[in-house]
Parts: sequence; structure tokens; C-alpha cells
Amino acid sequence: MNRLKDKVAIVTGASSGIGRAIAVHYAKEGAKVVVADLHEGRNHGGFEDTASATTVEEIEKSGGTAFFTTCDVTSQQQVADLVGIAVRRFGTLDVIVNNAGIYRSGKLVHEFDEEDLDACWDVNLKGTWFGCQEAIKVFLGKGGGTIVNIVSTAGLGGHPKQSVYNISKGAVSSLTKCVAIEYGRDGIRANGICPTYAKTSMTRGHFDDADYMKAFAESIPLKRWGEVDDISNLAVFLASDESAYIHGALIPVDGGETLCRYSVEDE
Ligand SMILES: NC(=O)c1ccc[n+]([C@@H]2O[C@H](COP(=O)([O-])OP(=O)(O)OC[C@H]3O[C@@H](n4cnc5c(N)ncnc54)[C@H](O)[C@@H]3O)[C@@H](O)[C@H]2O)c1
Repeated sequence: MNRLKDKVAIVTGASSGIGRAIAVHYAKEGAKVVVADLHEGRNHGGFEDTASATTVEEIEKSGGTAFFTTCDVTSQQQVADLVGIAVRRFGTLDVIVNNAGIYRSGKLVHEFDEEDLDACWDVNLKGTWFGCQEAIKVFLGKGGGTIVNIVSTAGLGGHPKQSVYNISKGAVSSLTKCVAIEYGRDGIRANGICPTYAKTSMTRGHFDDADYMKAFAESIPLKRWGEVDDISNLAVFLASDESAYIHGALIPVDGGETLCRYSVEDE
């Protein structure tokens, strides 16, 4: 408790899944949280325990402080407004978690259409880019801040049949390093979290495919899917002063997936 006491944090895409878990966990650790998303209700098909409560209701139930604001991260103006609202409401900004993201899969490179490419690029890369830009403008004026980008193991290597997603996440990996290189001297830390499959509405389709679900779990060293708290635990650490010398890192939260994938013959 209190590892983020009095810090002000924005979490994008925080109505559902990983962003929601991070927002709730940040508030439990004493942060004042701005929950930003396209809509306040969670996505259908998620695994949240308290599905009927919004993220803000969930936070307030535990005595935390948060408010919701609508934001489409593909719009630079809306992201600028989001940062402005956070600063006006809570007086400052210490942390931004660029989490909002979308996924496209199931096609080879030559089968994806331009809409899939643009959608992944706009939300995953440009949304994170705008979040970094607008937060940096505030952080430069106050002597520092912390950026946590939710990347993916797809941003480190990748998987077949999701190229439009992989390249957008690869770009977010690169952006995270660029920000770390350029702004460390200004007290701005930037790191990326790279989960493999975690149980959220984004991966519900894969999870509900019993063969796929089992095969994936068995193919990685820790033999299970990720949980959103596996990711929020690291997100708390990276936003806290405990990680003060961790900078420009892209950290897998993947049960060892990037180390090794077992094939059936290996078992
Ligand atoms: N779930 C996984 O297995 C997994 C693995 C690796 C990385 N990630 C990444 O984690 C992040 C969160 O994914 P999730 O699994 O929690 O998915 P999710 O679908 O459960 O939640 C994503 C949230 O982002 C919001 N969002 C989408 N587009 C937006 C936009 N334009 N502006 C603002 N908000 C928007 C959605 O409304 C939703 O609430 C994404 O960046 C995703 O790529 C997820």
C-alpha cells in the first residue's frame, strides 16, 4: 500500500482488461487515477470479477480516488484535452500508462486489408505517441515524470498471422526507447511492458478455443495464461520510485514465452 501515494496517473483504455487492472491497482497504492477510454463500460467478453461496476466505481469502493473521462487516443486533440483535464483536476501529472490498444489477427500479410493496418497503427502506435508527447510537455515543466507503455511480446518478436498488430507494437517498442534516450536527462523515465496472452476481452476468442488455450499454455515454460494482475504488478513497480534506475527497458511478462516455446515433440 502507498507505493504510489499522491502520484497522479492517467491510464488509457482503463475501462476493461489490463488497463482496468492497472487503474485499480494504482489507486490501491495511493495514486489518484484518471480513467480514460472510449466508453465507461467495460468491453464484452472480459474476465473482470466485478463486471457490473465501472473502473471508477471499483476504485471508489476501496476508498480510492479516480474519475473517468472519454478519450479516443487516435485524436491528438483528445489526448491533449485528457492531459489538461488531469492537471486541472488533480493539480499535476506524474505517470501516464499508454495502454489503449486493439488487436487484429488471423490473416497472412497479403490477406490483411488497409483498414486493419490503419486501425492498429492509429490506436496502438499513434495513440501511444500522442500520450507520450502530451505527457512529456507537462513533465518537462515539472522536472520529470514516468511513462509506462503497454507493448506486447509481439513488439519484441511476434507471432504469425498478426503482422498488422506486430508492426504497431514493434513501433511502440522503438518509441519507448526513443523517449528514454531523449528525455532521461529531464527526469522522465520510460519503460515498456510486454505481456503475452493474458485473459481479457481481447483474447477471449483464443481462450474459448479449448485446444488453442491448452496448446498455448503448454507451449510456454510457466504453463499458464497471463492474468491482468501479472501485468499490473509490474506497472505499479515501474510507476513507483522503487524502479528509479530502470529506464528504456522492454520487460516481458510472459511466463518465459520469449525464452522458449515448446513444441508437442518436446514434451
Ligand atoms: N490481453 C493480452 O493478451 C495482451 C497481450 C499483450 C499486449 N496487450 C496489450 O494490452 C493493452 C490492453 O489490452 P486488453 O487485453 O486489456 O484489451 P481490452 O480489449 O480488454 O481493453 C482495451 C481497452 O482499450 C480501449 N480502447 C480501444 N481503442 C481505444 C481508443 N482509440 N481510445 C481509447 N481507448 C481505446 C477499449 O475500449 C478497452 O477498454 C493493449 O495495448 C494490448 O495490445 C494485451
